[in-house]
Amino acid sequence: MRTDISKIRIVIIDQIVQETSTIRTLIFKDNLCYKSKPGQFIMVWIPGAEELPMSLMSWDKKDYTAITIHKQGYGSTQLHNKSKGDIIGIRGPYGNHFKIKKQSRKVLLIGGGIGVIPLLKLATQLNEYRVDTTLIIGARSKDEILFEKQANYFLSETMHKVVVTTEDGSYGIHGQATDVMARILENEKFDNVYTCGPELMMKKVFDIASSHSLPVQARLGRYMKCGIGICASCCIGEQLVCKDGTVFNEKKLRFMTEFGQINRDKSGRKAILHY
Ligand SMILES: Cc1cc2nc3c(=O)[nH]c(=O)nc-3n(C[C@H](O)[C@H](O)[C@H](O)COP(=O)(O)OP(=O)(O)OC[C@H]3O[C@@H](n4cnc5c(N)ncnc54)[C@H](O)[C@@H]3O)c2cc1C
Ligand code: FES
Repeated sequence: MRTDISKIRIVIIDQIVQETSTIRTLIFKDNLCYKSKPGQFIMVWIPGAEELPMSLMSWDKKDYTAITIHKQGYGSTQLHNKSKGDIIGIRGPYGNHFKIKKQSRKVLLIGGGIGVIPLLKLATQLNEYRVDTTLIIGARSKDEILFEKQANYFLSETMHKVVVTTEDGSYGIHGQATDVMARILENEKFDNVYTCGPELMMKKVFDIASSHSLPVQARLGRYMKCGIGICASCCIGEQLVCKDGTVFNEKKLRFMTEFGQINRDKSGRKAILHY
């Protein structure tokens, strides 16, 4: 029997990993999420609190999946504070996904902050297809670097490089992930670029990749209420991020005048993106 992905499924938190002081990974059993494609997301219902969109992580135990939560405001703090054995509700997986072109031999991935999460699931697939992969993980400081070890593990069967950058120089290469991307592209050729992270970073990635005529796929985020294309809270121009995305290629990104410029708050009011 097919499971209806629009209905909430109740799952029990099986394991919790403390990644940093403000970031935790919750692991639970769900076959649909286990089989999800890289870049897809779920809506997570936190009983008595909120429902939030969350990216799906790669988890290598059959039928298990994981979400990684950065504790920010009320909803994410409630989710972050869950314990082993607690229940949450999930809908999805929703949205389109990163696509690996058949002719791809060598690709470049750029992830900033928690944006590295959907890229890890992509890395797992690139590993399976033996695509030569360079992953740049950007963070503000050493304490905020996520999943360097896991990335090397998920890419262990293919040629790969994991490069870490920190803005304060406390670990890896000093600078922004996009500076390193620009330097790498001076010497190496790639077939595709994939990115997820703060939108201003993704806009820079798009601009740099475009200057090298490289195709890009970017995983965008917007305020989401329904997650299934009904409420329009996630619109970016004509596109609904939850339904038409969340992954957009360079052909779509080029015509999105709000990309890297404007976000919308809970009430739909436009807000200018700042560094
Ligand atoms: C497709 C997608 C995938 C995401 N994946 C992750 C993830 O893997 N891990 C993670 O920690 N966070 C993820 N987020 C962000 C997460 O959904 C929340 O936005 C974030 O946790 C802050 O929520 P809050 O209620 O704690 O904070 P608040 O203080 O209420 O808000 C902080 C910021 O988050 C935004 N926000 C709040 N609620 C939503 C919502 N329903 N949809 C979109 N933005 C919202 C607000 O506009 C504000 O800018 C994702 C968002 C999207 C759209
Ligand atoms: S979140 Fe409702 S249309 Fe996208």
